[in-house]
Amino acid sequence: MNPTLTNAWSRLAEHANSLTHTHLRHLFAIDSKRAQHFCAEACGILLDYSKNRINDDSLRHLFDLADACDLRTHILAMFEGEAINTTENRAVLHTALRAQGEAHVQVGGHDVIPDIRAVRARTHTFAKAVREGRWLGHTGQVIRDVVNIGIGGSDLGPLMVCEALRPYADGPRVHFVSNVDNLHLLQTLKGLDPASTLFIVASKTFTTVETLTNARSARHWLVEALGSEAAVAKHFVAISTNREKVTEFGIDADNMFGFWDWVGGRYSLWSAIGLPIEIAIGPERFDELLAGAAAMDLHFRTAPLKENLPVILALLGIWNINFLGFTSQVIAPYNQTLYRLPAYLQQLDMESNGKHVRVEGETVSYGTGPVIWGEPGINGQHAYFQLLHQGSRIIPVDFILALSQPGQTDPHRRTLIASCLAQSSALMSGRTAAEVRAEMQARGVAAAQIETLLPHRVFDGNRPSNTLLLKDLSPRSLGALIALYEHKVFVQGSIWGINSFDQWGVELGKQLAVGLEKRLEGAETPAYDGSTEMLLAYVARQKTKTR
Ligand code: F6P
Repeated sequence: MNPTLTNAWSRLAEHANSLTHTHLRHLFAIDSKRAQHFCAEACGILLDYSKNRINDDSLRHLFDLADACDLRTHILAMFEGEAINTTENRAVLHTALRAQGEAHVQVGGHDVIPDIRAVRARTHTFAKAVREGRWLGHTGQVIRDVVNIGIGGSDLGPLMVCEALRPYADGPRVHFVSNVDNLHLLQTLKGLDPASTLFIVASKTFTTVETLTNARSARHWLVEALGSEAAVAKHFVAISTNREKVTEFGIDADNMFGFWDWVGGRYSLWSAIGLPIEIAIGPERFDELLAGAAAMDLHFRTAPLKENLPVILALLGIWNINFLGFTSQVIAPYNQTLYRLPAYLQQLDMESNGKHVRVEGETVSYGTGPVIWGEPGINGQHAYFQLLHQGSRIIPVDFILALSQPGQTDPHRRTLIASCLAQSSALMSGRTAAEVRAEMQARGVAAAQIETLLPHRVFDGNRPSNTLLLKDLSPRSLGALIALYEHKVFVQGSIWGINSFDQWGVELGKQLAVGLEKRLEGAETPAYDGSTEMLLAYVARQKTKTR
């Protein structure tokens, strides 16, 4: 169903006009229970969405839109393994990876749960052996450092989780190398002892040039240092869906942990791709991460839409993007260990919903995925928040704050919480000219100077945000938080009628890079566009000069 053809869409468009001149301050003033009213809680996460430009009517129309677009049917289709990734004819079953207890999920008539659990048993055994010093390197040393080589979904998920759960890390040190710029690898390996270093080569396809280039260089570093190709067997394992390419690379199939084409790269941290997490925090805690995500899955699948966290978050996004024209979205986590969450959510959201055609191939006439960006909020306050408060664009913010974490103490924690609450309050209420004037008068500022400074010191406010409070930042609550955003992205994709699970947009650049690399090696290639040819000539001139 094209969402713009629904009655709900038309009503939302009209309704948005009627709210244009309503300030959030006013909405709070006329409803003393607004905060309690526009608030929902599940799986240890409180979502306060009262600071959005909405009222009861907005929500009613948004839920009508979800119904008109058959959201419930879409949800069921995903969980039940229908091939909803239509351009690749694949099911989308990251939820099956974290299914708890007795479960059966069929793909093409085959129950995938036993396969998932068999691989998980292997990763658990392997992670334990590494953590307990039973998996020995080629020269008999225990593993002290683990280097994950991967990119995109084979990097961002495990990296983000390992960082977020660092206070729980009690295994070997885990490092991540993703950029093909060899300085990333070089700097990571600096100080590591090859005899006690294990490499995990993580690639769903095992054809990704960045990952394979880094993996080859890592192998060279290891073999040079240990003096034997045989060392690879004890220092390299692979995570992939492509057994043939893994063995072709020289990694024994016994040292490979598989997953399946129905796991999207950016949804893969729950699969064997999570091995670095298991090694860092232990298989039991990894299982808690899965259980937290499964709890959110259950909530998403069963809670009424009006209480459903992913659905509410998604509909608010649609309201902001399609009806208010706010097409950018900041992710501002306040806990330092969540510092990679914005980057992770950037791939999750932008690779999923950065689409301009509907599933049937028709070009959309409405906005789709937002521009996702951010940095930890507290640092952001000293950097990009100026634009959020007084810039000429309105950019909604998701404030994310876990209220406790092992090792967190006051006064740091208090300052963190106060800062987070202060920012969303300031964005919402702003500061009027009368308030600024009164404050400056009270400080004895001269009248003429007050009038000069006034326009610069006024905050319009009325800038929307969500606040997500987690009771703690544990494997379980983090699992729930990630699943919440996965489902938010899914709901938006379902309503926009796009395929959130392919990523054809990354292909063209990859193909062009192959030809350009040949040209850089000196081969003749067909001419590129004028700009690219000029840049190639410039690169060539610099190369000659530095010789
Ligand atoms: O180029 C984009 C992408 O295909 C992502 O979707 C994926 O997560 C990443 O590359 C890495 O792919 P792979 O795991 O196959 O190396």
